[in-house]
Amino acid sequence: MALLRFIGKKIMALFICMVNFVRRFFDLAGYYLVIRKKDREYTAHHYEQALPIANYAPWLSDISFRETYGIIKDYTKVDIYRCYELWQLIEQTAKLDGALIEIGVWRGGSGALIAKKAILSGIKDKIYLCDTFTGVVKAGAHDFTYKGGEHADTTKETVEKLLDKLKLDNTKILVGIFPEATSKLVSDKTFRFCHVDVDVYQSAKDIVEWIWPRLAVGGMVVFDDYGFQGCVGVTRFVNEERNKKDRLVIHNLNGHGIFIKLSD
Ligand SMILES: C[S@@+](CC[C@H](N)C(=O)[O-])C[C@H]1O[C@@H](n2cnc3c(N)ncnc32)[C@H](O)[C@@H]1O
Repeated sequence: MALLRFIGKKIMALFICMVNFVRRFFDLAGYYLVIRKKDREYTAHHYEQALPIANYAPWLSDISFRETYGIIKDYTKVDIYRCYELWQLIEQTAKLDGALIEIGVWRGGSGALIAKKAILSGIKDKIYLCDTFTGVVKAGAHDFTYKGGEHADTTKETVEKLLDKLKLDNTKILVGIFPEATSKLVSDKTFRFCHVDVDVYQSAKDIVEWIWPRLAVGGMVVFDDYGFQGCVGVTRFVNEERNKKDRLVIHNLNGHGIFIKLSD
């Protein structure tokens, strides 16, 4: 009897294994035939490794940047070139009024860098750090490589610990989908800077629709994902906005796309 039960269990385990294998096979086949095909067709015409030949590298000698970057680098997916551009742009926004906001915080690296530079630049306004903390949302037809739920390997506490390490008291963390769930918790009416690092088309679009009327003239929206093959939805969204008369649109070869507001 025990032997029969043992054999029965083994047959059941084998059966479950086979079902999982077949499901995985069809998942992968679907991915390669449908998504990868679209991705391949699109990317064949639009992507190659960009290797600028310029070699001015101020991040090497900027001591406070290096100290801060040394602390945040294990908490960010943003490379040193984009981090340094954020660092420099925050200093520029000291000429403007309004709060700062990042949507797409993950473990807090880029948000902490922004908050640190804001203090060093004499900016007294708040930095809102917004994330679902359950990963990417609103992935859709324009986002070939995202399904939703990516980058959920973080917590609000992880970000708080990093902010404490840098002794930052100028931030407010908002947990949930922005803008739908958390924009009501924003008390500031004017913004000088917005960092969008949300990976997909619809989130980027909804955020810009919310921030644009609140952005000071001269204020900036920086899209972390503009120059990356994995985030074609964000590239598409920025390109759709390119010809609007109320903004300058910059493509930086480090991968950033940047809007600078020209008029209300
Ligand atoms: C690539 S990660 C951000 C990386 C981060 N800036 C860093 O320094 O590494 C993207 C994040 O965006 C968040 N996210 C995506 N769409 C969002 C939305 N509409 N509202 C809030 N968070 C969102 C995800 O939860 C994820 O943590």
